[in-house]
Amino acid sequence: MMLELLMKRRSIRKYKQEAVDADKLKKIMQAALLVPSSRGRTPWEFVVVQNRETLQALGKCRHPQQVFLPDTPAAIVVLGDTSVTDVWVEDCSIAMTIMQLEAEQLGLGSCWIQIRNRMAQGEQQTSNDFIKELLHIPAQYDVLAVLALGVPDEEKPGRTLEGLQYGKVHQEKF
Ligand SMILES: Cc1cc2nc3c(=O)[nH]c(=O)nc-3n(C[C@H](O)[C@H](O)[C@H](O)COP(=O)(O)O)c2cc1C
Repeated sequence: MMLELLMKRRSIRKYKQEAVDADKLKKIMQAALLVPSSRGRTPWEFVVVQNRETLQALGKCRHPQQVFLPDTPAAIVVLGDTSVTDVWVEDCSIAMTIMQLEAEQLGLGSCWIQIRNRMAQGEQQTSNDFIKELLHIPAQYDVLAVLALGVPDEEKPGRTLEGLQYGKVHQEKF
């Protein structure tokens, strides 16, 4: 079951122009809040953005511009409290991954948009600072990534078990 879900999931960057079902969004957030975190510190926070103007502005969070973000029905901004743990990146990455899988399970498409270590449009500001300013995020948090979310308007083939890079799996020694 889990393998099937993993084989099916692809990054979706084209979405139908319809709002994400509120119950599905709730389930995705429940999935996020269920993930494990180092020492149980739960450093993550999530900002769910569905306002069109904010999504438009968010599109400028990366250089070059993330062209599909303004047309994305919803975006979940994932940030971590850097003051409570030095592994907030890992903790937030788990939340991102699990949200992508829950979205897939619910028939929604999603795409990870990298924010950490990236620059905003114009390259005058980091993507992190740009989003913190836009969404009024307090200083002790840093943004890991944005999850674009919506009903898919593109189809991508899933993966097969035959096509996997088994050579990357080493036994006992590299
Ligand atoms: C850490 C991480 C960062 C990513 N950043 C971006 C991004 O900034 N923009 C984007 O369009 N896709 C991004 N992606 C999606 C990848 O490009 C995509 O997962 C990869 O090409 C494999 O394709 P698939 O997701 O369809 O299997 C990111 C994925 C991961 C895991």
